[in-house]
Amino acid sequence: MVIGHLPNIRYLFAFTGSTATALLSARGNFLFLDSRYTIQGGQETVACTVEEALPSADEALARKIIALGLRSVAVEGAYLTLNRFYALRKHLPRRVAIRHRTGIVEGLRAVKTIDEIEEIRRTLRLTTQAFDAIIPAVKPGIRERDVAAELEYQLRKHGARKPSFDTIVASGARSALPHGLASDKVLQKNEFVVIDFGAYREGYASDVTRTLFLGKPSSEHRKVYRTVLDAVRRAEERTRPALKGRSVDRLAREHIEKAGFGVYFGHGAGHGIGLEVHEAPFIHPRQEERICTDMVFTIEPGIYLPDRGGVRIEDIVRVTPSGCEVLTSYTKELIVL
Ligand code: GLY
Ligand code: MN
Ligand code: MN
Repeated sequence: MVIGHLPNIRYLFAFTGSTATALLSARGNFLFLDSRYTIQGGQETVACTVEEALPSADEALARKIIALGLRSVAVEGAYLTLNRFYALRKHLPRRVAIRHRTGIVEGLRAVKTIDEIEEIRRTLRLTTQAFDAIIPAVKPGIRERDVAAELEYQLRKHGARKPSFDTIVASGARSALPHGLASDKVLQKNEFVVIDFGAYREGYASDVTRTLFLGKPSSEHRKVYRTVLDAVRRAEERTRPALKGRSVDRLAREHIEKAGFGVYFGHGAGHGIGLEVHEAPFIHPRQEERICTDMVFTIEPGIYLPDRGGVRIEDIVRVTPSGCEVLTSYTKELIVL
């Protein structure tokens, strides 16, 4: 199998650079790197032989496939570009079949080891510490983008290498945008502020959302918040091994539907997290695959009322043999500032 997706390469061979192609076979594993990375690859990789990608990665790869006498190779259909597919086809004799596969390494990655879970815990810890550090700065008069800048600075100060995605700070009517990137909008009194943020420390991502309120929440604000909070809690209390992804989604969605807000919750209720922010297992209404012990994923329902504002609460959980453990240890009660 040819592996080109970097998180998969990192998972299999511990390579952390930005360009690589791997060949996985019963006759050996090979990692093709260009001259920027051959020394680094020799130092950090495991379970593979590093070779220089000369004259190009595709040609070195094709030469190796021929030299090993392989009759067919699988490629990662979700990631291999058409350009690379045709290059590979051009350099391989017709007798070598190229087969389209998806999700093979991703399926392995979905179930975490103890070390991976510990790393996710560490990353989450620094992420919520950084959030605590910016709370005093979140007040009427500050721009969303300044809240994001402060938060990203604190993430780095607390040990993050970088944010795991563009920080979301969405206030007032903008909080109804599920992915409202921090804008020039100035925070005002009596509005929700959805802050969705995360970081990479050593390769594993965190992803946390908390919704704050500035001023005095109305009874509608409180009702919307309470509904999302109870949906998260319900899903966290009832998630257990062998449920289908769609059943976990259902646990949160059902509660929001019963409260009459079903049409205002459009996205899936969660996603796996690890070397990538979004990875298997996916928790959404059409997901038939079953979760199992030591899968790690987010639970993040929301209610988004157009022109009025929205609420999302996002935790990361780990499936245990009897239920699930919430890894995000940060209050979910409404923070009123
Ligand atoms: N921050 C993106 C997400 O929650 O999925
Ligand atoms: Mn998420
Ligand atoms: Mn998020």
